[in-house]
Amino acid sequence: MSEIEVVDLKKNFGNIEALKGISFSVGRGETLALLGPNGAGKTTTIKILTGLILKYEGRVFYRGRLFYPYDRRIKSLIGMVPQHNNLDKELTVYQNLKLHGLLFGLSGKDLEIRIDAVLDMAGMREHKARKADYLSGGMKRRLVIARALLHEPEILFLDEPTVGLDPAVRRSLWDFVVRLRTEGKTVILTTHYIEEADMLSDRVVIMDRGRIVAEGSPKELKGSLGRFVLEVHTPQGIKEEFFSSREEAIAMAKEFSFPVRVREVNLEDVFLRYTGRRIEV
Ligand SMILES: Nc1ncnc2c1ncn2[C@@H]1O[C@H](COP(=O)(O)OP(=O)(O)OP(=O)(O)O)[C@@H](O)[C@H]1O
Ligand SMILES: [Mg+2]
Repeated sequence: MSEIEVVDLKKNFGNIEALKGISFSVGRGETLALLGPNGAGKTTTIKILTGLILKYEGRVFYRGRLFYPYDRRIKSLIGMVPQHNNLDKELTVYQNLKLHGLLFGLSGKDLEIRIDAVLDMAGMREHKARKADYLSGGMKRRLVIARALLHEPEILFLDEPTVGLDPAVRRSLWDFVVRLRTEGKTVILTTHYIEEADMLSDRVVIMDRGRIVAEGSPKELKGSLGRFVLEVHTPQGIKEEFFSSREEAIAMAKEFSFPVRVREVNLEDVFLRYTGRRIEV
């Protein structure tokens, strides 16, 4: 049974069709990356799956059970890092965590233990008494991530979690996602750093304009284009051609008088191909 099953999800905002009927599933313990250009519908999908959007067409199942936005049993399984920080600015770091814990039914010593654990995990212990509004952008992000983990969710949604993080913190977040996977947690993340998705995810769903345009493991998706890319640096821009072997790419490279480069296919190539943003030779 899938951890999450999404069936023909549609969502309109006025006359904007944000989701035009998408279906996918996520296995238990899987890390799934939702990729797509701005406005593709990633955040809308995550908001529906986490109960933040109440009206939509289609169905969502968690562990085979139909999801209603008010279903507390399912919501307690879910942790959410929204794209835009939604901290209570007037409250301290500690109070933000405490409030979240209370909302999820934690209290007393159990809650204090969890607060200390997530503060340590996020490297935020020394900032416990600071007002959220006074934190730096990266620290706010870390607090939102810490908060999402407070009630020990089984399924974690991370909507562009690494935006605004410095390189060291970003790396520690990657390690952290890998650790979640080894603990058997299910993770759904979005990112515009495609190499992040390549590194972290078992499976990728690429969306564009409210539809799913490609789906598979990073390896499968890259393999669908070929293994090597010939880049031809023309005065009009970089043009690309895909080959199954380096030798073929090199042979073709000799045909051009422009500067060329042969390299391995990466997930960004796949992304650009399926979202139609690049010219070809
Ligand atoms: N509350 C809203 N009201 C009106 N339109 C909305 C609302 N939320 C999203 N949209 C529209 O729905 C479409 C999908 O938006 P969504 O935020 O899901 O995209 P996204 O894939 O998360 O993009 P990004 O990478 O920029 O975060 C966009 O056209 C957006 O303008
Ligand atoms: Mg978004």
